[in-house]
Amino acid sequence: MAVWDKNLLWSFMFLLAGAVGQTVIYPLTSTCAVRGSTVTLPCTFTPRKSFNDGWREVPLKIVRVRWCKNHEICHGSVPSVFDSNSANSDPRYQYLGDMKTNCTLQIRDVQQGDSATFRFRMEADHPEGHFTNTTGVTVRVDDLTKMRIISSSDDKKLSRGETITLLCASVCTFHQLEVTWFKDGHALSETGSSLHLSPLTAENSGNYTCALKKNMKTVSEPYSLQVEAGAGNNSCTLIPGVVFVVLLAVIALILFIIKRKLRAAGGETELKVSY
Ligand SMILES: *[C@@H]1O[C@H](CO)[C@@H](O)[C@H](O)[C@H]1NC(C)=O
Ligand SMILES: *[C@@H]1O[C@H](CO)[C@@H](O)[C@H](O)[C@H]1NC(C)=O
Ligand SMILES: *[C@@H]1O[C@H](CO)[C@@H](O)[C@H](O)[C@H]1NC(C)=O
Repeated sequence: MAVWDKNLLWSFMFLLAGAVGQTVIYPLTSTCAVRGSTVTLPCTFTPRKSFNDGWREVPLKIVRVRWCKNHEICHGSVPSVFDSNSANSDPRYQYLGDMKTNCTLQIRDVQQGDSATFRFRMEADHPEGHFTNTTGVTVRVDDLTKMRIISSSDDKKLSRGETITLLCASVCTFHQLEVTWFKDGHALSETGSSLHLSPLTAENSGNYTCALKKNMKTVSEPYSLQVEAGAGNNSCTLIPGVVFVVLLAVIALILFIIKRKLRAAGGETELKVSY
């Protein structure tokens, strides 16, 4: 009996879900973002396919999608950060989704004002298909989070010729990070979130820091890298010696060939003259 009850309840809930059939899922309901970074708010939706107007099933089609900041419903004339019906949305808010299943929103160059709850709304060609999931995604803009350098090597003392990759990261989730790398306080030209040093030379020794390009307050603690001269020293003097000898041999060979060619050419002209 209890099992039957449970089954009935499930079928009923299934029917209800099927009848309404519209969901908006935010896989991430809260996230933090460093000011100046890019954050992605993943979102998927299933629109309602049709509704019964008392006479027949009327098919529904999504005609408008929008995202609002700090508004429960995001309907009517409520200002939105993205609106598929409007051409003048703030370019910082990029809709990566579509009109069918994907409602992902990306916020670039995150500002303090983005500390808010963002909600997605779909609107169909009939109000029966309008829907907002009020849960939303809450973004916390963090200005105090420092970047952190993660090294591919546990060792801070490396030998020359080795390879190391430093990653500039933060506890906040974000994407497409534009960072500035510093070595002993001087900015490097690299802007990616990872710094690849290979092959290491003694010149790579120093204190590395990184910060978000647009927010120097996020500068990390220094990462001290020491590249030891090590056993590389001998081969270092040996290599130019070998190169020199090989070069000499090549030059000698070229000279030899030229000489032979000249001699052959000389023979030919002599032959021509005699004709
Ligand atoms: C609303 O969003 C939350 C978080 O993703 C989800 O758990 C819930 O099922 C959603 N509700 C509907 C009706 O889509
Ligand atoms: C939605 O679109 C974004 C951007 O194209 C993509 O990264 C994401 O994987 C898509 N999500 C799903 C569930 O397809
Ligand atoms: C790196 O920092 C350490 C202490 O934090 C300091 O002793 C050292 O001199 C610094 N190295 C350079 C090259 O500035």
